[in-house]
Amino acid sequence: MKTVKIKDKEFELFLTQDVIENAIDKVAEQLNKDMAGKDPLFVCVLNGSFIYAAELMKRVTIPCEVSFVKVSSYKGVTSTGKLKEIYGLEEDIKDRTVVIVEDIVDTGHTMALMLEQLSCDEPKEIFVSTLLLKPDALKQPVQLDYVALEIPNDFIVGYGLDYDGYGRNLSDIYKIKNS
Ligand code: IMP
Ligand code: MG
Repeated sequence: MKTVKIKDKEFELFLTQDVIENAIDKVAEQLNKDMAGKDPLFVCVLNGSFIYAAELMKRVTIPCEVSFVKVSSYKGVTSTGKLKEIYGLEEDIKDRTVVIVEDIVDTGHTMALMLEQLSCDEPKEIFVSTLLLKPDALKQPVQLDYVALEIPNDFIVGYGLDYDGYGRNLSDIYKIKNS
């Protein structure tokens, strides 16, 4: 089994780029159908979604805009539950169709905050797309419209996701070794 060491932790290969990108193909296909004629604005959440956003947007063939926002995430491997503001959105989303592009929904707190804050600007509708979902980690009900892959409640890195800032550049996804 292929493993990588990042800082003090060992991770083992979990999802290959092929598996991930097949799942992204399916999401893009569905978005191309559902968002046709809606002139959507895709709002990608940095830093974690940068690879997913690129691969997804390469496959979305309908007219659309793509923008990026930042939101603080937690440090290390456990959530503090403390979140800061979303910032960086320059587009006016009033009466627009918005599609959020997120790397992973874990507790659901970040997505709930995104939905709450973006709703204040009166978009026509908001959809949520996430590369990964940990159903067993959800701490609150959250709107999820397009989920590429569901995974168990293990800490993972790669394909944009980090452990303490590192590992985002791995082209496959690795999960933490519990030994
Ligand atoms: P939530 O608010 O708990 O749903 O977590 C959302 C954010 O935490 C994600 O956008 C990620 O940036 C980060 N996160 C959650 N789980 C993981 C993981 O397993 N590896 C790396 N980052 C994660
Ligand atoms: Mg994120």
